[in-house]
Amino acid sequence: MTRRWQSKRKKEYYYRLAKKEKYRSRAAYKLKQIIEKFDVIHTGDRVIDLGASPGGWSQISSEIVGATGKVIGADIKRMRPIEGVEFVLGDIRDDKTIKSIIEKLGGSADVVISDMSPNISGNYSTDHARSIELCEYALGFAKKTLREGGSFVVKVFEGDLYPEYFDKVKREFRSVKGHSPKASRASSSEIYIIAKGFIGTQPPLVM
Ligand SMILES: C[S@@+](CC[C@H](N)C(=O)[O-])C[C@H]1O[C@@H](n2cnc3c(N)ncnc32)[C@H](O)[C@@H]1O
Repeated sequence: MTRRWQSKRKKEYYYRLAKKEKYRSRAAYKLKQIIEKFDVIHTGDRVIDLGASPGGWSQISSEIVGATGKVIGADIKRMRPIEGVEFVLGDIRDDKTIKSIIEKLGGSADVVISDMSPNISGNYSTDHARSIELCEYALGFAKKTLREGGSFVVKVFEGDLYPEYFDKVKREFRSVKGHSPKASRASSSEIYIIAKGFIGTQPPLVM
């Protein structure tokens, strides 16, 4: 069985499952598997989902946090409404977007998750560098909004800048791991960093 064929079969499997279980993306299963393994989202949590469209990660988060929690999704692309999820339309590199999310949050976050991907150019190192840029913004955002002890999950396209970024995350959290969920394995160069126990003690930023 070739790697490409395996990857195609896996994509089809999760695509069908997502349709059947009414999730908006195959990616929903990546977050589901991350949560099962690392226990990062709980009932009552306040979760920010960066790069939320079409909404699979927000659906999963909303199911877990329930009515006592809060989920805010943000994306440059529109997202069809999801019950229990608030949405901010905008670029995460833009201060205005950050301000809107913080206003909606009205306090600190328990978890920041980012599945943001750049527009794929097909050039491996360009796509890697663009992915790292988005990850830097996601980390900056997490540092502004997370409570002490909070968690951060971020997708990175692997490449030569990965170790430096991983070390940066390590400086901010007590436990940091790189993980490739079953739902994405054999498909691409993506890896998820799961960081728990935010060290920062500064109060959440009010903009
Ligand atoms: C792989 S998709 C996310 C899928 C989502 N997790 C789900 O389960 O449905 C990546 C998303 O990142 C968004 N994105 C890329 N750059 C962004 C930016 N600068 N600000 C906000 N969102 C961005 C894209 O618009 C895209 O919707």
